[in-house]
Amino acid sequence: MIKVAPSLLSADFKNIEREIKRVERCKVDLLHLDVMDGHFVPNITFGPMIVEAINRCTQLPLDVHLMVEAPDSFVESFVKSGADWLTVSYETCRHLHRTINLIKSFKINAGCALNPATPFCLIEPALEELDLLLLMTVNPGFGGQKFIPSVLSKIEEAKRFIQRHKLKTKIEVDGGINPQIAKLVKKAGANILVAGDAVFKSKNYCRTIKALKES
Ligand code: DX5
Ligand code: ZN
Repeated sequence: MIKVAPSLLSADFKNIEREIKRVERCKVDLLHLDVMDGHFVPNITFGPMIVEAINRCTQLPLDVHLMVEAPDSFVESFVKSGADWLTVSYETCRHLHRTINLIKSFKINAGCALNPATPFCLIEPALEELDLLLLMTVNPGFGGQKFIPSVLSKIEEAKRFIQRHKLKTKIEVDGGINPQIAKLVKKAGANILVAGDAVFKSKNYCRTIKALKES
């Protein structure tokens, strides 16, 4: 069964606890938290202090997506703030194995994200170390952008590689995912769908989440 991770970026931050409770009731699997530094991406969101506060509002596993330069120096503070899954952006890592090992030394799940223009082959040497491969389906930085269809073949390529090498790595997709697009990415091989606007800008969160799962 496909998993759904609502991205809090699209939620009403004035009522963040209420928003979390509203998605919790819909049997979501993870809560996706987008951390942006204004350098790697042209937007700034929040840091470990807010992640820690969010962690106190929910039992859901926290899927923390770091879009920050030099992520190694932040790993420990996000682990302490409650991250269950911690994903770094491939394009920010000079020594990827070192970063992955650092995350895994805290006994949490390690992920790596690829921008839409970054080819899959670049992550192949590290894939068996990863719990999660996050394939960005928009250029990171903002919610509500349009899905980039050329990533579909990258999802298929990743799926084939994972099957061929009998790896346990999960494929997560992030950006512009709605129930129509969900059908395509699921068919291509995605295991986890991140959805921001599709969930939080919809009238009925549970209906949208159900549609994402059943699409
Ligand atoms: C974009 C973020 C996404 C974003 C997705 O940089 O990584 O998680 O919140 O939002 P939607 O689903 O609205 O594209
Ligand atoms: Zn994200």
